[in-house]
Amino acid sequence: MTENQGLVGEIQVASDKSMTHRAIILAAMARGKTIINNPLIAADTKQTIRAVQQLGISVTHEQSSVMIIVSPGIVAIKKMVSGNSLTFDFGNSGTTTRLMIGLLAGIGQSAVITGDDSLSKRPMDRVVTLLEKYGAKIETHEGKLPLTIKQGITGKEIREDLQIPSAQVKTSLMLAGLGANIPVIIYDKFGTRNHTENMLPTFGVNVNQQASMIYIPENQSLHGTKLTIPGDASSAAFWLVAGTLVSNSQITLRNISINPTRSGALQVLQRMGADILISNQTNDAGEAFADIVIKTAKQLNATDINEREMPALIDEVPIIALAMRQANGISHVTHAEELRVKESNRIMSVTETLNSFGAKIRANQDGFTISGPASLKVPVKKVSDHDDHRIAMLQEITALVTSDGTTDFKKRDSVKISYPQFYEDLKELTHA
Ligand code: S3P
Repeated sequence: MTENQGLVGEIQVASDKSMTHRAIILAAMARGKTIINNPLIAADTKQTIRAVQQLGISVTHEQSSVMIIVSPGIVAIKKMVSGNSLTFDFGNSGTTTRLMIGLLAGIGQSAVITGDDSLSKRPMDRVVTLLEKYGAKIETHEGKLPLTIKQGITGKEIREDLQIPSAQVKTSLMLAGLGANIPVIIYDKFGTRNHTENMLPTFGVNVNQQASMIYIPENQSLHGTKLTIPGDASSAAFWLVAGTLVSNSQITLRNISINPTRSGALQVLQRMGADILISNQTNDAGEAFADIVIKTAKQLNATDINEREMPALIDEVPIIALAMRQANGISHVTHAEELRVKESNRIMSVTETLNSFGAKIRANQDGFTISGPASLKVPVKKVSDHDDHRIAMLQEITALVTSDGTTDFKKRDSVKISYPQFYEDLKELTHA
């Protein structure tokens, strides 16, 4: 472990991005008023707010800790917008895009969808091909944005066995089915994040789940509700690793999601030897959250991440790679090819980042081989964050772990995507 001054204190980690996106979309589909406590107000979720506002829905969040959404319900929205061709620019947000494609195809709304450079390189055919199977007509640019929804789905039910581990694809299909009032049956053998199926019953939707099957019957109507969003497990992961690696640290994080489909990083770090204590577990709207205390680890050991674990920590692989670099022995990350189609090609950007700090990690087709421990040094020339929020945060935490333990932070705009107060939290913990 490094001999820097410890990271000490308690911080309020950014609220969960995945749950906030879903809460906004479901609230827009629901008739009545929904109160979302502690939503994430960040660049990505603002795209979803704008998307539902374009459908005529009222969203207010004067105090950032409470968002109020009032909607006439999806049937009325369908009538209000039909006949118009809508144009959306979803910026950097893959979740907004894939979820909204499903909803718009479900209600049969024609639309043109664009995004920024990074989003325009990401695959949309994973949702488009499936929706087309159910009668939708969607034109894409080689499977990517810009795309045009020309016709909605016409099928009588949606029945799919997921072929790629993507919660966005799963949710897109559920929203399409709910929008079209048809039954949805999905088999998710990967166990991808389950926030949509957890949240739907709070909005009055009947969801049956048995093993890997999710079944939503036809003709479900959503009504307004009240729910609270916990801290984001993916944002918390940066502090799990920082507190583990920087000597003399003790960090307290309150109300963090410990949903098992998201808490793979916790388990991997604990098995590597991290000192992480979970307490005060509570539940809200089908989701579990708890307080987490992280102390500097006495020793970290290498580990392998297997296929079964990957969906529950896919967004955390970049920061786990740093922990692996500081652990004793050789770690293997496999079955992580999805990293190639995130906000950046994260197999490439994680390798570039860690190697620029003097680590020698090997990029493979579906992951990394990482041997440790290493002594890291801040690179003379700053490496690019590839406009990827998780790479920017990885770079800042890696800088803390170097022999000089730098706290000379040059703010990166990309963190605004998921964690706008990242630098304030960093300052708070480093007492910089
Ligand atoms: C998300 C699902 C994951 C994740 C992304 C958010 C979601 O993507 O990487 O950051 O909110 O459903 P995939 O669905 O592409 O796996």
